[in-house]
Amino acid sequence: MPRVLLLECSPNDLASPGGQLAREMARRIHPKAEVIVRNLVREPLPPLCAGYAEAVVGKSDCPEAAFTLSEQLIGELEVSHYLIISTPMHNYMVPAALKLWLDYVVRIHRTFEIYDGRRDGLLEDRPTFVVLSSGGHYLGAKAKQMDFLSPYLRHVLGIIGLHHVEYVHLQGLADGDEAVAAALQQARERLSFNPVFAPEPFPDVVL
Ligand SMILES: Cc1cc2nc3c(=O)[nH]c(=O)nc-3n(C[C@H](O)[C@H](O)[C@H](O)COP(=O)(O)O)c2cc1C
Repeated sequence: MPRVLLLECSPNDLASPGGQLAREMARRIHPKAEVIVRNLVREPLPPLCAGYAEAVVGKSDCPEAAFTLSEQLIGELEVSHYLIISTPMHNYMVPAALKLWLDYVVRIHRTFEIYDGRRDGLLEDRPTFVVLSSGGHYLGAKAKQMDFLSPYLRHVLGIIGLHHVEYVHLQGLADGDEAVAAALQQARERLSFNPVFAPEPFPDVVL
């Protein structure tokens, strides 16, 4: 059975429309898929400590102990056939909770290596979906702000070998319930044509 790692990064928890869509997507990959949920807000990761920082740059006498949490998080990625990240945009970027996860997972000599100045990812590529929720717009005619999140996340996931990254944009969620419903409807319609997901349409989709 496929295994899906679902990273949830919203402080709005179950009320997050992006979180809701991401959970639907995980179920749609396969009804019996094993879904590993890592909620980075409900169970926050500890800030990086001196031991971890030293171990990353090879200055630690006992790197194994410093890497315990990092190994656990990388292990969850390694056993997963799919990665789904549900994240809000916070100040045009990834939220701090997701950045911290990246700091534990993007690790030299473990998930990437540098050869002749070039970074090579050491993880196997897999379909990765990022559900990106924002209060305003950064794409299309209504765009009024920068988006550093999507190019950054695509770049950093690529560093560790995850190149097959698709974004699901839920924009304009600050415009009220109707805007949220419309953004979800549009995203579900687009996803229902994606062969990764079950052939039947997502709920509420009128084809
Ligand atoms: C600290 C913070 C910073 C935010 N920064 C942005 C931003 O830069 N651009 C934007 O469009 N929305 C921003 N928002 C709004 C959220 O992205 C928006 O409320 C989104 O719908 C949250 O999705 P969620 O319910 O999945 O967490 C910010 C919200 C918070 C709490």
